[in-house]
Amino acid sequence: MTEYPRFDLNGQVALVTGASKGIGYGLAKALAQAGAKVVVTARDLPALETLANEIRAEGGDAIAMQLDVLNIPQISTVMQAAHDHYGRLDILVNNAGLGANHAAVDVTEADWDGMMDVNLKGLFFCCQAAGRIMLEQGYGRIINMSSQASVVGIRDHAVYCATKGGINQLTRVLALEWSAHGVTVNAVGPTFIYTPGTAERLDNPEYLQGVLNRLPIGHVGTIADVAGAVIYLASPAGGMVSGTLLLVDGGWTAQ
Ligand SMILES: NC(=O)c1ccc[n+]([C@@H]2O[C@H](COP(=O)([O-])OP(=O)(O)OC[C@H]3O[C@@H](n4cnc5c(N)ncnc54)[C@H](O)[C@@H]3O)[C@@H](O)[C@H]2O)c1
Repeated sequence: MTEYPRFDLNGQVALVTGASKGIGYGLAKALAQAGAKVVVTARDLPALETLANEIRAEGGDAIAMQLDVLNIPQISTVMQAAHDHYGRLDILVNNAGLGANHAAVDVTEADWDGMMDVNLKGLFFCCQAAGRIMLEQGYGRIINMSSQASVVGIRDHAVYCATKGGINQLTRVLALEWSAHGVTVNAVGPTFIYTPGTAERLDNPEYLQGVLNRLPIGHVGTIADVAGAVIYLASPAGGMVSGTLLLVDGGWTAQ
């Protein structure tokens, strides 16, 4: 009987950036439910301790570590500490990210640097630090949080769209360099997902209607929708997939 792959992460160790709230928080829980031991990281240590306690209370295994992805030396220290704590580092989910609305004519240098530094520079150095460990291990799964805004323009999001497009390109190059060594690198591109970060906009009926007019599926996404894609790419079932962008966009980019 052929043994087909499972969406099972038992025995694997995953690290999630920006896990203190929103999508990252949910992804940490989803990875734990799939069987992974989870290193939850972000700047807000008390929120991470709460999350790690919740995962443990649900029967999972988790540890909280403070990580600001703007602090490049801290990135390697935390990746190594995660590896030392559990003895492996199998999965990295680069979720930490910022978005902001600015008409292109109003973008300041600080707006540009702030988003580039977190979304692109921080993400790259997280890939590099985890990649060094994974290459030595001969196994790894890196999942970068991109967006539908990486392939289509979103009005008033010039810098955000540029960072997310950059993530797709980094993902492709790392996949070229690392896939032969057992390390796959992919990106996930969600549409509008209801989170604390988008609630204010999506709770405005006029804004929501504008979004729904562009969404063939007829509703915004949930964190669970994003988790489905991440678990797939992290699991043995996704083993042949590398260098791709998996859009979770309800058909937004199909038109
Ligand atoms: N919510 C959406 O509609 C949506 C759609 C597409 C893509 N995304 C992407 O998903 C990811 C999470 O989005 P969200 O909606 O949950 O946002 P959010 O603002 O609720 O959460 C972002 C997380 O990143 C963390 N973060 C920010 N700067 C950081 C830093 N310097 N170091 C470490 N962590 C830092 C925040 O603390 C937070 O935990 C982002 O990369 C975002 O671009 C979100």
